[in-house]
Amino acid sequence: KKPAGAPEPWLARPVTKVGVVGAGLMAGQLALLFLRRLEVPVIISDLDAERVTRGIGYVHSEIDKLLGKRRISSDHANRFKALLSGTTEHADYADCDFVIEAVFEELAVKKEVFASLEKHVSDACVLATNTSSLSVSAMAADLARPERVVGFHFFNPVAVLPLLEVIRGTATDDETTATALSVAKSLKKNAVLVKDAPAFVVNRLLIRTTAVITKAVDDGTPVEVADAALRPLGLPMPPFVLLQLVGPAVALHVTETLHAAFGERYPVSTNLQALVAARKPGIYDVTAEGKPYVSEETRAL
Ligand code: 3HC
Repeated sequence: KKPAGAPEPWLARPVTKVGVVGAGLMAGQLALLFLRRLEVPVIISDLDAERVTRGIGYVHSEIDKLLGKRRISSDHANRFKALLSGTTEHADYADCDFVIEAVFEELAVKKEVFASLEKHVSDACVLATNTSSLSVSAMAADLARPERVVGFHFFNPVAVLPLLEVIRGTATDDETTATALSVAKSLKKNAVLVKDAPAFVVNRLLIRTTAVITKAVDDGTPVEVADAALRPLGLPMPPFVLLQLVGPAVALHVTETLHAAFGERYPVSTNLQALVAARKPGIYDVTAEGKPYVSEETRAL
């Protein structure tokens, strides 16, 4: 069934090669998903060759884990590895039909990426953004073809959570939206078509939880107590574990976007700001029930 308000599915264009801009943890998770579900060539990039090599290493290790769990055959593992390549040049995206960016959560950086990509890709290529909170319309505004830009927002862990928010900007055309929804279907995700509004739909709720709970910790409640106190709500994971899964820097950026839009309903924690500025886990570096709070992303800061 097509999502409410979706264009006709036959408007979708075929996708035979995918580009992922970025080679960090989110980009790696996306590359793996595209390889597994679309089985087409996937190219990832980053600012330097070292980051690209690290990103490819991450995807290879995740493929090996799937092989170890017998989720995929060794033929598939070898095929996925062969389909993955890396670059530091946007010119190498020229033959992609669908490019998704997963770079730093800052509007100017994302606009720069799209402006650079637009010089190389074909007119039919979709430019998707995995932004957690920024305006898709603003990201597209200065491009020659803003109608090809669409939001394609995944949830962590990408391999496990079925939801995908597809965000139509003010200029996004029907062909782009239909292609995004068709890709979502191939990825076996449940796509919802949502409005381009600060943090869209899901993060408005999730980040409200982390914003309020980090503020409670600023006010003196220990992290373990805050997590334990919320346990009766039946959340799938305690808020500070979620914060580490999402990454404190991403959580802070989304909170700031929501704070700018809606004020004190989304308080910005001074502890979270200090932690991200110091690039250290700080007071959130505690354990509960033997589970480490510190995510790989935080460790890598
Ligand atoms: N990374 C990758 N895979 C993970 C993982 C992780 N961090 N955590 C668990 N998994 C995998 C496991 O390996 C397992 O896979 P398998 O079946 O292949 O072995 C599968 O998930 C289930 O794991 P568990 O049996 O341990 O299941 P749990 O019941 O503990 O569920 C969970 C794990 C699905 C992560 C669950 O705790 C959950 O849903 N948590 C909430 C996550 C959430 O809210 N995410 C949204 C964050 S917001 C976001 O990402 C948007 C951004 O813009 C900010």
